Amino acid sequence: MVFQPQLKILINRDEIAQAVDRLACEIKRDYRDKEPLLVGILRGSFVFMADLIRRLDLPLELDFIRLCSYGAARESSGQVRVVQGLKAPMRGRDVRVVEDIVDTGITISFLLDYLKRRRPASLKLCALTDKPSRRRVSVSIDYLGFTVPGEFIVGYGLDCAQRFRYLPDIYVLED
Ligand code: IMP
Ligand code: MG
Repeated sequence: MVFQPQLKILINRDEIAQAVDRLACEIKRDYRDKEPLLVGILRGSFVFMADLIRRLDLPLELDFIRLCSYGAARESSGQVRVVQGLKAPMRGRDVRVVEDIVDTGITISFLLDYLKRRRPASLKLCALTDKPSRRRVSVSIDYLGFTVPGEFIVGYGLDCAQRFRYLPDIYVLED
């Protein structure tokens, strides 16, 4: 039989747009006279990043980093490595990391340590979703969109083995 995953809507596009607006307001309030450097984690954060920067209405710079810990599995391997590094200098910059989801926290805590060593003036985390029930490493999220249940979610940039990123809403993947 062909594998047919079931998608159950969790967060619709209007709710996402409202959250993105709110996060942009929160970030703008903190960075009125500054030019932050937004660092997106590829590939999951690219849709969120694209919407967020158009709501920010601030002069800002963008960069992306690609990390790898997953492969095609749904569980973190616990080992993170940088697959594609950053181009922009970090030193003295107000850096905002933009992430799609914080799950065990292993990926983001690795990245925050990696960026801290480059001496930014400030370093904060903006995450669209948080799955606190699965946390293994403690992480503080400065700007958060949604707390989600401990299930696997897809859509709005989030994938399962590279599928479903194009969906405009966020779904729980049931199988
Ligand atoms: P962590 O290291 O366990 O916190 O995993 C974080 C990364 O795993 C995220 O950046 C996502 O790329 C991926 N991930 C974790 N949970 C999900 C999910 O429910 N759907 C899609 N990707 C996920
Ligand atoms: Mg990711």
